[in-house]
Amino acid sequence: MSGEDPGGRRGHGRPGIFVTVEGGEGAGKSTQIGLLADHLRLRTQRAVITTREPGGSPKAEAIREALLAGIAKPYGPFAEALLFSAARIDHLDTLIGPALERGDIVLCDRFTDSTRAYQGAAGGLDPGLLHSLERVVVGSLAPDLTLILDLDPELGLKRAAERAGEGAVPDRFEAEALGFHRRLRQAFAEIAAAEPGRCALIDASRDADEVEAVIWETVSERLPQLFSGDRTGRRDDAA
Ligand code: TYD
Repeated sequence: MSGEDPGGRRGHGRPGIFVTVEGGEGAGKSTQIGLLADHLRLRTQRAVITTREPGGSPKAEAIREALLAGIAKPYGPFAEALLFSAARIDHLDTLIGPALERGDIVLCDRFTDSTRAYQGAAGGLDPGLLHSLERVVVGSLAPDLTLILDLDPELGLKRAAERAGEGAVPDRFEAEALGFHRRLRQAFAEIAAAEPGRCALIDASRDADEVEAVIWETVSERLPQLFSGDRTGRRDDAA
């Protein structure tokens, strides 16, 4: 419906399953996405696609490079939000939308909640403005499930620095002060509390295999249609 989807993005009313993974720096998102993809490939009959934002398509990856290098920082958080949105439109149009229309499972490392948290809550942009932008960019294409990995930002930044290796230069957002990362954590917790049907807050301070087990339990419980062989995307009990 044009009223609901002003951006006219593909993938709405689709048979695929869309899962996003969110959280602050160093929370272990990419490790957990890899592990979840392995489980899903073994236990469902659907194709599994892993992707990330900003990025996931050649044009969006080019925008990612500019954003993480801090090129848009002098123009302020709204300009950055517009660039994240431009990357997201291409990603949706060329990768996510077509995959969901085919009935695939799409696992995406960050999506709209990162814009809400980084440019909104931590960056200071008005939530009403971001809401309008989100409607134009994604319309009604909400994730079926969003896993929010929750971790003390001091620990997360330490992990991210260790992962990058000695002498590595932190990117545009890693370089923000601790207060920014604390606001992010709070923002993600608030998103999870405000939308409990879509989001699950996962304690990411535990060992990776414990986090993996909790994620698998959550995904199995929240998305029973994964195992039904029913590609309409509906729950069995709602069919
Ligand atoms: P990345 O290296 O993927 O970070 P991480 O490994 O922590 O996911 O870089 C993406 C960065 O972009 C990350 O700092 C979060 C930020 N970001 C936003 O500020 N807004 C957004 O809408 C998105 C998708 C990401």
